[in-house]
Amino acid sequence: MRDTCLMLIALTGCDDLVASAPESPCPPAFAQDETGECVFDEEAVADLMRSFADGDLVQINAEPFPQVTDSNVERNVYITPLFVAPGLDTVDLYQLVDPYRADDELPFEFPVGTAIVHERVDGLEGSTIQVKREEGFEGDEGRQWWFGKYWPDGEPDLVDCTPCILCHTETAHPGTEGLYGVPGDAR
Ligand code: HEC
Repeated sequence: MRDTCLMLIALTGCDDLVASAPESPCPPAFAQDETGECVFDEEAVADLMRSFADGDLVQINAEPFPQVTDSNVERNVYITPLFVAPGLDTVDLYQLVDPYRADDELPFEFPVGTAIVHERVDGLEGSTIQVKREEGFEGDEGRQWWFGKYWPDGEPDLVDCTPCILCHTETAHPGTEGLYGVPGDAR
């Protein structure tokens, strides 16, 4: 249908139809509840894990890079672009995090709604995701971040693996909400 319409745009100007496709007012991984508020939603997470490379998230690295803790595994990292402060969004803030600098101190916290996907390029395991949840949410170590792992079709990857919190601990990177970041030469 969309292709037909794109073909027709040139002929009839039916781009109004394309432009009027409903857009969610919520960031990816969130959906509106019955009161219209954006709340964390696992269906929306599954949607995001099928489509994160299609433009809703911004890719941080230029080319796939070997994971800092496992050089046999190639990764891409994507983040939700959200306002943080004048002149600074989540993409800029995340670029300040360096996996090799455990003493990094970020000037701001990531806003609720930030999702970061760590794509497993070879597809042998699912890609992982962290989402900054609402005030009051207590994940591992009481942190405001939710962790998940999904296959490219949006199904959760439930195969046993090293627990996320073994590496993603606030103790290892206390000034960056436990985030590692992408090595500078991969950006
Ligand atoms: C063996 C250590 C290790 C384990 C276990 C691990 N990660 Fe990571 N993760 C890393 C490293 C190191 C990075 C930084 C990027 C890189 O080197 O690929 C990272 C990056 C990420 C990122 C990008 C955000 C950031 O921190 O910069 C997400 C999202 C993520 N991991 C989610 C998960 C989830 C979810 C799990 C559990 C299912 C998990 N990770 C398990 C080491 C680990």
